[in-house]
Amino acid sequence: MDDFKRREFIKLSALGFASIALQLNAITSYAQSANGHLGKWHADTKLNWDAFLEHLTKLAKTQHQLPWDQKSYTKQVKQLLLQCNFPEFENIKKEFDAYENKRPNWFESASLHYEVDFQVSLFQFEKGEYIPHHDHPKMTGVINVVSGNLLAKNYTVEEQLSSTREVVKDGRTSVMQKCTIRETGNEIIKAGDVSILTAHEGNIHSIMPNEFSQLVDVFTPAYKHDTNAKWYTVNEDSFYQGRKDLYEAEYEK
Ligand SMILES: [Fe+2]
Repeated sequence: MDDFKRREFIKLSALGFASIALQLNAITSYAQSANGHLGKWHADTKLNWDAFLEHLTKLAKTQHQLPWDQKSYTKQVKQLLLQCNFPEFENIKKEFDAYENKRPNWFESASLHYEVDFQVSLFQFEKGEYIPHHDHPKMTGVINVVSGNLLAKNYTVEEQLSSTREVVKDGRTSVMQKCTIRETGNEIIKAGDVSILTAHEGNIHSIMPNEFSQLVDVFTPAYKHDTNAKWYTVNEDSFYQGRKDLYEAEYEK
């Protein structure tokens, strides 16, 4: 009797388990295809945060296959960004809720993901928190506007000029180098827009938020402790030697 009961119990359990497993499998497949997991993905599939990172991790490895096609890479990162509804993601909601304008006249930033190959950062700006001209040495940047709107200007270095000058500030002497930079972009970017820079094109940019704005940026590779980003003073009053879209700029060597 005891034996019979146990066998029935095992039989029922096995059937029950099989039925649950079947349903679980269907639910998991649905969730995975909805979130672009393991290749079940097409251009308008909505991605969740994990699927976004999974695709980006794979994509960022292409930087090690030389020559690295940065145009194609940034285009693909743009596509991934556009498949994400960032304000719905729990990790981003948390950052939005915790936002405080701690630094007057300067943006706030938060790291959403960091690894050597790439990083994803959130930037939040009050209206008018301008970021002057700066570069992103040997990096690509793909900038997704999540809310608000900003004037983004991009430039590419055209030529190093021979003139330098020494500046003494707070007892420290530095050498300032002049160069010319060519404007490659000048546009208002708004929620849903993506702005791109590569190591070779539009690598210098400035950003002026016209209202409270939030950006999710992907930098590839990530910033390192010795990344030496330069800040440029740009004479935007007139073109250099009257040449259209060309400006004289200066940076600390
Ligand atoms: Fe930047």
